Amino acid sequence: MQEWEFRTIIEPFRIKMVEDIPLLTREQREAALERTGYNLFRLLASEVTIDLLTDSGTGAMSANQWAALTLGDESYAGSRSFQRLEAVVHRLTGFRHVLPVHQGRAAERILARTVLKPGALILNNTHFDTTRANIEVAGAEARDLPIPEARVPEAEHPFKGDMDLDALDRVIAEERDRIALIMLTLTNNAAGGQPVSMANIEAVSERARAAGIPFFLDAARFAENAWFIHTREPGYDHWDLTDIARRMFSLADGCTMSAKKDGIVNIGGLLCTNLDEWATLFRNELILGEGFPTYGGLAGRDLEAMAVGLEESLDHGYLQYRSRSIAYFAEHLEELGVPVVRPPGGHAVFIDAGRLLPHIPKDRFPGHALAAAMYLEGGVRGVEIGSLMFPEAKLELLRLAVPRRVYTQAHIDYVIEVAERVAARAERIPGYRLVEEPPFLRHFTATLAPVR
Ligand SMILES: Cc1ncc(COP(=O)(O)O)c(C=O)c1O
Repeated sequence: MQEWEFRTIIEPFRIKMVEDIPLLTREQREAALERTGYNLFRLLASEVTIDLLTDSGTGAMSANQWAALTLGDESYAGSRSFQRLEAVVHRLTGFRHVLPVHQGRAAERILARTVLKPGALILNNTHFDTTRANIEVAGAEARDLPIPEARVPEAEHPFKGDMDLDALDRVIAEERDRIALIMLTLTNNAAGGQPVSMANIEAVSERARAAGIPFFLDAARFAENAWFIHTREPGYDHWDLTDIARRMFSLADGCTMSAKKDGIVNIGGLLCTNLDEWATLFRNELILGEGFPTYGGLAGRDLEAMAVGLEESLDHGYLQYRSRSIAYFAEHLEELGVPVVRPPGGHAVFIDAGRLLPHIPKDRFPGHALAAAMYLEGGVRGVEIGSLMFPEAKLELLRLAVPRRVYTQAHIDYVIEVAERVAARAERIPGYRLVEEPPFLRHFTATLAPVR
């Protein structure tokens, strides 16, 4: 398919149904933020103008997905909707065992509870927070092995999501007996939504197979990863996106997937594998916590929408528009002097809050401070990915995640203008201290207070 040749980015869809967005006064936003203990997760959606908290479960379903919902077969066992989903997932991934789950972390929890023993070691380019938490609750260790460039926001590298192969070799040589699983997160959300190259997936797969270690993908953004392979990796520009996805999955023994991202559904996930013994363990655990294996915590209609969404996410025109729109967002922020993680990733723009707000130390959460400032200025909600989310974080980022097919280019321009105003008074933005903190995933519910 032809590349887009115009300067103006257009949404490759028309809007059939609209939803009002709240427009608040500054005083209303100040009161809302104070009420929530300065935690943006605790805001009401009715208090947010542009919600870039997450691209997860926030996408707009297509007319075809809405139509598919009506075909939902709600049979408890053996539903036709499961058969349809299974056929699509077989075709895209090649995995024999396909288990639907209600969202990505349910797949992670099943994996952690069935095959991870206390003391086990799990390697990943960078674990997402829920993956890490599920592994740690099982008493195992989640170790990240990103390439060194991933830690340098301004470093240009087409595949900053790659795993550090030297580090992987070292860990396999020294701690082989402890390693229960190797994973690659596509794209690498916690490190800037950065893609993983096919060459790296192949190299990790080869090492895992040689050492007899199971290898899984966290495939939440498999389609965006396939797009970057198509556009950035030599030799793949003539490949069909579906073939790239198939090749990626063929290198692994299984995957966890939150379908709330590239599945473009509001709820849903998958746990897939070719390992028969693991599949039996997964299925038993699935029945315990999610439901019968042909619905797995979802309605039949949700399975239908997921089957359609998984295929739509690999549409060339859609991925071209999405990646171009996010690159435009990042380029305009950079023109205003707002430092962003380079190059722009697949689902979000990550502002380097550590560099924008050098007067705020790590333990005063620069990413969170910027998130609060963006909300106060224009009702834009993003999420900190830094020391508040991961106490040992190397980078202090504010992620502005773009829901799929929801906001227009005018909305993106508005967010750029809000960022411009915030950047103009950056040195006056205060840091934050923790007031209350829960034991796990503290960023979701902690309360904070500004340190003036
Ligand atoms: C890379 C990655 N893995 C796993 C998850 C967890 O998925 P879910 O939110 O559907 O439980 C997420 C969600 O944000 C993610 O980005």
